[in-house]
Amino acid sequence: MSAATHDEATRRDFLYVFSGAAAGVGVAVTAWPFIDQMNPSAATQALATTEVPLAPIAEGQQITVMWQGKPTWVRRRTAAEIEQVRAMSNSELKDPQPDQERVKKPEWLVVIGICTHLGCIPNRDNAGQPGGYLCACHGSVYDASGRILRGPAPLNLAVPPYEFVSDTLIRIG
Ligand code: FES
Repeated sequence: MSAATHDEATRRDFLYVFSGAAAGVGVAVTAWPFIDQMNPSAATQALATTEVPLAPIAEGQQITVMWQGKPTWVRRRTAAEIEQVRAMSNSELKDPQPDQERVKKPEWLVVIGICTHLGCIPNRDNAGQPGGYLCACHGSVYDASGRILRGPAPLNLAVPPYEFVSDTLIRIG
């Protein structure tokens, strides 16, 4: 092979390799928006799970956190409240469910704070039901397990999926 032929061959190889690489980059650049579109947005991922430290919540206190756009209550129940909801009989409940099935640890109630009637936010209310909740919109009364006792709401407050990451931290979602 003469020097000129060798140079031409080298140049052709370079152009071929370069155009191949450029095409690869083009495909990658074109594909990225589609691949990226398939991933949930960072905002969605951030809302998919919510971690809640439990140590700052005193006995008898409840905090509200947002989980997937829903107000979610994390409540540290007192021994008296636990005793009261566990003494409740099925005949007193519109949507019978033992408290033991609604909590992972007796002390901690985790429920979505949205009334199952038409979606108002109930308040903690000792007048309607000691330690329970009253939805003032149409008068639904829930107990300290979030179970519906009276009023038009048909179902107990929903329990979101959650787990104890440790004794002092839960992850909702
Ligand atoms: S929305 Fe709660 S009672 Fe109607």
